[in-house]
Amino acid sequence: MQPSFWHDKWASQQIGFHLDEVNSLLIDYWPQLKLAAGSQVFVPLCGKTLDICYLAEQGLEVIGCELNQSAVEQFFSDNELPVECQTQGEHECYRTEQVSIYQGDLFRLPKEPLEAVSGFYDRAALIAWPPEMRQQYVERLAELLPPKSIGLLITLDYPQEALNGPPFAVSDAWIQAHMSPYFEVECLSTQDVLAQNPRFVKKQVPWLTESVYRLVRR
Ligand SMILES: C[S@@+](CC[C@H](N)C(=O)[O-])C[C@H]1O[C@@H](n2cnc3c(N)ncnc32)[C@H](O)[C@@H]1O
Repeated sequence: MQPSFWHDKWASQQIGFHLDEVNSLLIDYWPQLKLAAGSQVFVPLCGKTLDICYLAEQGLEVIGCELNQSAVEQFFSDNELPVECQTQGEHECYRTEQVSIYQGDLFRLPKEPLEAVSGFYDRAALIAWPPEMRQQYVERLAELLPPKSIGLLITLDYPQEALNGPPFAVSDAWIQAHMSPYFEVECLSTQDVLAQNPRFVKKQVPWLTESVYRLVRR
């Protein structure tokens, strides 16, 4: 999607992707990664997700990247966190204890802030890209992540012709074919989530699954 698409969504607060609670799949599967307290975790396309708070509560240092300034400011104000902001190259870096969010384009983010990262979490980031941008995103993510870093990826799959994305449908076959060159890929769970997604039910999407993957950067 073009940046203007997301800026418009945030300006009109049409942020149906944002959850008012921590993602239950993160709570269920993150502990399996066994990242040591103090480890750095990257959250690409982070929005103002409360999942950042969960990761920080596990004793991790979270580094996010988000395009929209208001989304970043809302993260800190909604969670009543004191924040300092510094310009770093093309990005604004918003920091509080244990959380730094680089506001700006992921494709323009320098690698240096992520050099010590050992974990990552992608929820509604891969599936936010239209098919023609998806491979480019995977390559960018792989470029930013140090070797051996370990993470969770949460995806949705459904018959794409039944609904316009985002979120876009990403199949297991696509992930295995396009992410395996960069990551060891293991599917941890796939669940039928149609009933919990009224937008999909209303549009008569016949099926909808949500999958969790464990990825290790090669
Ligand atoms: C579907 S939302 C998901 C947000 C978050 N991961 C969540 O689970 O709530 C995708 C987010 O990516 C941001 N975004 C889109 N393109 C971006 C880019 N090139 N660089 C950084 N962030 C971007 C959007 O502003 C939006 O907040």
